[in-house]
Amino acid sequence: MFPETFTGDHLIGVTGRAFRDGLVSVECFNPRDFAMDRHRTVDDKPYGGGPGMLMKVAPIRKAIHNAKEAATEAHVSPDVPTEASKGASKKMLPEVVYLSPQGQPLTQGDLAEWALKGSVVLVCGRYEGIDERIIESDIDREVSIGDFVLSGGEVPAMAVIDGVTRLVPGAVGDRDSVTQDSFSSGLLDYPQFTRPEEIEGRQVPEVLLSGDHGKIERWRQKQALGKTWEKRPDLIRARSLTKIEQQLLDEYLAETVKK
Ligand SMILES: C[S@@+](CC[C@H](N)C(=O)[O-])C[C@H]1O[C@@H](n2cnc3c(N)ncnc32)[C@H](O)[C@@H]1O
Repeated sequence: MFPETFTGDHLIGVTGRAFRDGLVSVECFNPRDFAMDRHRTVDDKPYGGGPGMLMKVAPIRKAIHNAKEAATEAHVSPDVPTEASKGASKKMLPEVVYLSPQGQPLTQGDLAEWALKGSVVLVCGRYEGIDERIIESDIDREVSIGDFVLSGGEVPAMAVIDGVTRLVPGAVGDRDSVTQDSFSSGLLDYPQFTRPEEIEGRQVPEVLLSGDHGKIERWRQKQALGKTWEKRPDLIRARSLTKIEQQLLDEYLAETVKK
């Protein structure tokens, strides 16, 4: 209902450039444009009474159907030479995602999937949300950006747009910087340091100054496992650690206990 939110102006830095260069585009379908009455009404009262309004059924459904049709025409980027994209046809149906506090938590995997598919329909609710039957009939998946309630789906959609944009080939100069990000490999990122070598007595870890790339790689992998174990043990529990990963994590734990 607020297409002015999606000019791309909120995207700055690399994602802003990618947006302006046309690597990603956003097309808005405003339910108000599909409202038939004189006042272009887009809200309606909930059955059973209670506070607040719901989005009026016909306009939001028409907006979703039009968006789906337009997104179906968007083709998968030929620049993505992966197994998954090989068989992708031009007429691939886009996923219709309702941004909702009741959805499954948004993951990096979701963003990667949409970046690869080339198109996705994001449904932004307003008021108290949308009629349950539309969720059943027109929505493929509900996705939440956290256990809190915002007043509309636009800010969550903007988060999705930013996250997807940086995964589109060509958007971020050094591809490794996105493939090494937290969650890409199911772990958090390893700790990073820049100049100066010392801040108030805190030193940059020696190994990072050694120039030994093998050792640095091993240290980073160990740190990623250790930090994930400390901050997000659920991610470690959900992962079957390889022998070397288990060994690195044990080493990390032994070293931190010693300290
Ligand atoms: C005020 S909320 C409606 C909340 C709804 N009555 C409930 O309690 O589940 C209005 C809209 O904001 C969006 N929204 C709010 N919080 C969100 C979140 N955490 N993640 C994704 N979308 C959210 C949804 O599109 C929702 O339809």
